[in-house]
Order: sequence, then C-alpha cells, then structure tokens
Amino acid sequence: MAPSAPAAPLDPRPALLADVCVVGAGGAGLYAALTAAREGARVVLVSATPLAETSSYWAQGGLAAALGADDTPDLHRRDTETAGRGAVRRTAANVLVREAPRAVHDLQELGVVFDHDEQGNLALGLEGGHGKRRVAHAGGSATGRRVVRQLSAVVVEEPGVTVLENARAAALWTTPEEGRCVGVVCEDGRTIRARATILATGGAAALWRRTTNPPGSLGIGLMLAHAAGAALADLEFVQFHPTAIIGVPGREGFLVTEAIRGEGATLLDARGERFVEELAPRDEVARAIFSKVREQGTDHVDLDMRHIDPALFPNVVSALRDHGLDPVTQLLPVAPACHYVMGGIVADLDGGTTVPGLYAIGESACTGLHGANRLASNSLSECFVMGRRAGLAGLEEPGLLPGLGGPPASSTILRPSRETRQAMWDLAGVERDREGLTRLREDPHPLARMVATCALAREESRGAHLRTDFPALDPALDGMHAVVRGGEPPVLERWR
Ligand code: SIN
Repeated sequence: MAPSAPAAPLDPRPALLADVCVVGAGGAGLYAALTAAREGARVVLVSATPLAETSSYWAQGGLAAALGADDTPDLHRRDTETAGRGAVRRTAANVLVREAPRAVHDLQELGVVFDHDEQGNLALGLEGGHGKRRVAHAGGSATGRRVVRQLSAVVVEEPGVTVLENARAAALWTTPEEGRCVGVVCEDGRTIRARATILATGGAAALWRRTTNPPGSLGIGLMLAHAAGAALADLEFVQFHPTAIIGVPGREGFLVTEAIRGEGATLLDARGERFVEELAPRDEVARAIFSKVREQGTDHVDLDMRHIDPALFPNVVSALRDHGLDPVTQLLPVAPACHYVMGGIVADLDGGTTVPGLYAIGESACTGLHGANRLASNSLSECFVMGRRAGLAGLEEPGLLPGLGGPPASSTILRPSRETRQAMWDLAGVERDREGLTRLREDPHPLARMVATCALAREESRGAHLRTDFPALDPALDGMHAVVRGGEPPVLERWR
C-alpha cells in the first residue's frame, strides 16, 4: 500500500541529521524524545500540530499503575488480561504493570503534579475493569492536558531536541538493500536522517464517523509504516467508549470520562432504570448501551452524574456547561463512539517494528498489550513506559551510514472521505458481519480495507470485536493476532 500522490518537490536544504527522529508529540513521543536527549542524543521531534495540541492532550483518563498499598503489579496484570479477553500478550502486560509506577514517579520529577488526597497521598481513581483504585490523575479529568503541557514545556528547554512544529511526516526513508529505516520525509519536502525513527503518531479512531478523538487521528503512522514494509496487527480490535455525548451541537462525541462512573455515576435507560454494571470492562458496557438503544428505539441512554461533586471533574463540567448542558441538574445523553484502536504497527517490547531502525509506540503500536479490549487508562501509562524503552533502544542503532541513496519523494497521505467514515461506522462498528465487512473491503481508503480484512479473518466474537455471524468466542484463537504484511491477507499468529 502506498501513500497517495501527489509528490511534493524535495526541499533543496540538506537533511537534518539526528540520532533519533520522533514523529508525533503526544505523551509517548515527547517522553521518547526527552529520554533519548537526556542520554546525549540529538533528537528531531516532528509534530503535525503546535506542541500540546495532540491526541494525548484530549485524554481524560489517567495513568493506571499499581501504586496503592493494597495493589500489586500482578493484580494489575490480571485485570489487564481479563479485560483483554484472552488476547493480551503476557510479556507486554508484565512490562507495563512493572514499569508503570516508575513512569508516574518520573513524570512527577519532570514537574507533573498528580492529584493528592487530604493526607498527601496520590489520589487513585477507579475505572471499569480495575479491581483496585489505581488510576493517577492530574487535575481530575485534565490529565492528558496537564501531562502534555508540562512535557512540552520541558522539551522546548531541552537543548538536545529540535522541534519541527506544523511538520507532517509523509514518507519513511528506507535503504534499498536492507529496507532499514534511516529517516523521514515531510510533506513540505524537508528531510530528516536518523539512526532510529520512532513513530508516536497516535491512533485511527477518527476513521469512524462517530469518535471521541481529534480529527487528525487517522492512522497516519500506520500507513507510513505499512508503506515502508512494516507489519500491522489486530486492526479488528477497536474500542468503543460507552459514554460519548450525542445530540448536543458542538459537543458531539465529547467523552465523559469513565472515572465519573468510578465515583458512582449511573447509566439509565429510557425508563429511567439501570441496565448494566457501570464499571464492567468497556466492551461490555458499550455493547449493553448499543443493545439498549436499539431495543428502546432511541439514540442514547442517560448518564446520571447529578450527585457527583463537579469540582472533581472541572473540565468535563465546564465543557458541558459551555454547550448548555448542566451535569449537576441534568441527565447527559450518551452513546458509544469509536475511541481507541488496540491494533497498530507490530512492535516488540522496546517498540522495535519489523523494519530495522523503525520503532512504534503509544496508540500507533501494537505490542499485544491490550488484547481485544484495552483496560481503562492503561494507554497513557503505556505511552511513558514504551516511550522510555524506545528512546533508549533507538540509541543502540548503528551510526548514520554514508551513501544511503536519496530520500523517497514526499507525498500527501490519503484522508478518508465522509463516505469512508460512515462506512467504517456502519460496517465495522460495535457489531460487524461478513456481508458488511466484505463490502468495506472494497473501500477506497487502504486502512479501511485492512480493518475489514482483519475483521473478516477473525471468525469469532472477542472483546471489542463482535461478529453477529460468529457470536461466540473461539478458544482456539486465544492469544492469536491477525498480522498484515504487504498486500497479503492477514495471518493469525500466536505471540509470546
Ligand atoms: C476515560 O477516561 O474514560 C477514557 C480513558 C481511557 O481511554 O483510558
């Protein structure tokens, strides 16, 4: 699959030289850049938006980490595996749960202020699927914003990091013989040559019409990596967040954090009755809402947070009030929206992909950590755990080689049409079947087609992947991942 034309002329300026080029300035990218720079590396950080306007900035969840006195990394791993429905790669889960507490402490040292209780201990929140309180927040539901803002401030002061803002990666530069990644070409023709390239470009949930994500979450990194020969996996596993606002102009798809249900908010059907365990794993809650809405012929259920202290979630409350909805006195109309892609660029436990010199971290990567259904707030922790690992691993790559040949032509990555986004919602949404997925396989957008082929290959229902024509989980597929290489059909593989 190639990114679409037209090619931009190459910038006549010489390539910027770096040890590590990081693409994407969300939590994972910022942290990888800082980690490498603090080891003495020259880092170029390519950001499509001005710093602190990335997808992580929107994150309302926190960092899941076994920090409570009653908690352990093993308990955290067990909850991760239970939520992931038999598809979590245990080695990846072990890395996360063991290293997440350190990530929280490291962020504190970098100046992030997490919420504390009256005794001065970290205030740990409860979210769906967690058996313990283990989610650290900063500013309640403003965690992403606080963390990204602070790390951005640290990065701009870091002499080892050169930040290219408003720069979009348009192709990866690979060597003809080995297929090694040696840098990046930007849409405007600028080139960066680097020993290691780290993709931290976020997810693809905005490929679906109804989404909690910013409009740029289109799987750009996945398409760049695939065009450079990297394997992708698990694209059928896409998480739908249960409680996104619906029917409120200006706030369509706005996420109302699960942490609010963790504090006791309830979900009510059209008769005003509870119908689901609000803190069950996300796939269960999203499905229950989806079915209830269909059964009752409405388009939403209600979230009742009228008895929750608004001071705990100031940015949610003010964002809703700005659009005429007062959560202290009114019920909130909510329905599932596409939120997080568990699949992505196949990555090992240091973020290394199947292309030498190329790393992937955060939501753009698929280590198998999330299985078929990500446990709430594991993703922000993953950004920092894997950002650190990839930032260090990249330094082990060989020095810049002479005579690499020229960089590839720059091109503009294909954006999905409105029809593609609608088709993703209709045919690869909360429920799918062979007939719809077969139609989606003909979509003009390459990533839409790959989602369809992975979802067709998995003839079972598991976690967020609900095939109405294969409603049961197939135990023979436990631990199996649908891997896409080149233009080949997906192959189901077991990962250790
Ligand atoms: C939420 O706060 O409900 C979303 C956080 C996450 O996606 O983990």
